[in-house]
Amino acid sequence: MSPERVQLLIRTLLFILLCVTPCIKGIRWLALAKMSSVISIQSEENCDQLVGLIKRQKRICKRNVEVMDSVKLGAHIAIEECQHQFRNRRWNCSTVNAISVFGNALNHGTRETAFVHAIASAGVAHAVTRACSSGELQKCGCDRTVQGRSSQGFEWSGCSDNIAYGSAFSKIFVDARERGRKTSLRQLMNLHNNGAGRRSVEDLMKVECKCHGVSGSCEMKTCWKAMPSFREIGRRLKEKFDGATEVTLSPKRIGSAKRLVPRNANFKPHTPEDLVYLVPSPDYCDTNPKIGSLGTTGRICNGTSKAIDGCDLMCCGRGHKTRKIEIVERCLCKFHWCCYVKCKECKRIVDENTCL
Ligand SMILES: *[C@@H]1O[C@H](CO)[C@@H](O)[C@H](O)[C@H]1NC(C)=O
Ligand SMILES: *[C@@H]1O[C@H](CO)[C@@H](O)[C@H](O)[C@H]1NC(C)=O
Repeated sequence: MSPERVQLLIRTLLFILLCVTPCIKGIRWLALAKMSSVISIQSEENCDQLVGLIKRQKRICKRNVEVMDSVKLGAHIAIEECQHQFRNRRWNCSTVNAISVFGNALNHGTRETAFVHAIASAGVAHAVTRACSSGELQKCGCDRTVQGRSSQGFEWSGCSDNIAYGSAFSKIFVDARERGRKTSLRQLMNLHNNGAGRRSVEDLMKVECKCHGVSGSCEMKTCWKAMPSFREIGRRLKEKFDGATEVTLSPKRIGSAKRLVPRNANFKPHTPEDLVYLVPSPDYCDTNPKIGSLGTTGRICNGTSKAIDGCDLMCCGRGHKTRKIEIVERCLCKFHWCCYVKCKECKRIVDENTCL
């Protein structure tokens, strides 16, 4: 057996051992992010062996093998962005193992779960759209529907990012898990947040332009539609996390469709861009694998901040210890004619606080 095969076998066994019951509710396909980056999903046979895909996703994989490396990349950028946005919070989006990825942290319908669903769905939309624009895929390219003269008088031209394709693919692949004969409350929540993630990419699309004409004049301008950076999407979704709405099933149905409504009837209804959750989050102060909490002992905190990154809140009142550390910075930078900047290295002693 080849080393890759052995690795796959071990992963599958581990998956069965660790994951079958506790991970049902996590986003299992995010395990793609943890695959070795040198293994590419090149052929249909590979689809059956991918850890974390449900049957329907394996079928989608087989019909779209060329897109699967982008799905994997989407999972990867989503996890990284989540860790960036949550770096100063008690739950910091750390991955627990390569199979269940976030452990039990996504078992309950909390705000954190809402954010991870949204960013994962946005990650796939973003990565697939990028791949379309770069010409890597047979099935899609630039968005050719954006053309002609705009009302502002410029010419559409160049490669507009095909967010319609990326978003549609993300919907098919990511939402596949949530489709069933009977939709549960939790599935409604997941579907909503997956959609909100894709909306964030669509809503942040911008127009980029280039000027043509004699040196610097803008006699003629050509423009195209460009996706936001993934950092901007992460920032937007973090704002949505902060303002997320607690929801429950609407007692009134429209036809046969179940609907989510704010739990507090005095709150204004959530929009398709908002994140929704079902239960308040735990405090994540102590280690508790059952809820996917690593606790905050040993976390670095900010001695002067009154926010969640400050020692009072981060350490949950347990207190912190302080030690002096030396940091090295670039300083006394001088501009030299022409053209470079030269800096010195300065050492500074600062306090580093860690939670007890
Ligand atoms: C997240 O927190 C855990 C412990 O709670 C810590 O081990 C880990 O280094 C943190 N990750 C980041 C990226 O800060
Ligand atoms: C600590 O918090 C203060 C106040 O919020 C902020 O100005 C400072 O930059 C923070 N320090 C670090 C190292 O993040």
